[in-house]
Amino acid sequence: NDLYAVVGHPVSHSKSPRIHSLFASQTGEPVEYTAIQAPLDGFAATVRQFFDRGGKGVNVTVPFKEQAWQLADRRTGRAEKAGAANTLYYDSEGLLTADNTDGCGLVRDLVGNHGVTLRGANILVLGAGGAVRGVIGPILAEQPAALTIANRTVARADALVDLFSDEAGDTVLTACGFEQPDQPFDVIINGTSASLQGDLPPLSANVIGTDTVVYDMMYSLQTTTFNQWALEQGATNVFDGLGMLVEQAAESFRVWRGVTPESATVIDTLRND
Ligand code: ATR
Repeated sequence: NDLYAVVGHPVSHSKSPRIHSLFASQTGEPVEYTAIQAPLDGFAATVRQFFDRGGKGVNVTVPFKEQAWQLADRRTGRAEKAGAANTLYYDSEGLLTADNTDGCGLVRDLVGNHGVTLRGANILVLGAGGAVRGVIGPILAEQPAALTIANRTVARADALVDLFSDEAGDTVLTACGFEQPDQPFDVIINGTSASLQGDLPPLSANVIGTDTVVYDMMYSLQTTTFNQWALEQGATNVFDGLGMLVEQAAESFRVWRGVTPESATVIDTLRND
């Protein structure tokens, strides 16, 4: 079997081994996939060791995605701009290559699985950290009418607008604080880690209309704090990040194996685990 692994710290909670083993049995690809916890000061050594043992590919999770990006000899276009990588492999020329499939995963879940229209939409993205930086490029590629990045620290949202202005095309790309938006959006994507602390970005209830699609990039067994708030404001199209998790994995699998697994059944299986 060909060996793959997710490297993180902590990593025991990771669903990637489960997802990739479901992909492997579904496609018949000879893939064996494990989880490796790297010491906080030992990411590079852990990755090198894994490839030296014959490993074919690595997924990278918290807190090593920026280090994975640094470590690589070359980066795909989408990884370059994301500033972080979740997928590593050696290309045909023997160069350690960094890719980022997170944004692709988000867009496929929204558009493909949930039937959400991003083209021409008025989108609000909450947060301006690494997770959001990874998804802005793929969202802009869908050509929304407007993309507003709101963050607690407005300067970080401003910096993302500067970074992605060259990819905005006709999309009106702006930054602001949480308090400013006061009209309903077509789509609201929460990419803050506020939910982890049970916190809520201080948004106006006016950003939620009856047709607003609300997406929390976070996934947990219970409804996330943010989605709970959105439901209380009357939102009815509310999704969590499980589909994104499976779709980013599917895209990594495709990058490594050249085979695209079917993700809907895997999402269902995980939902019922
Ligand atoms: P990640 O890789 O998850 O994006 P990060 O780069 O540390 O991690 O970014 C965390 C994001 O969540 C940031 O947008 C952060 O806001 P700041 O830039 O102002 O720090 C946001 N965030 C974290 N805790 C938050 C909270 N309690 N309320 C609102 N936003 C929060």
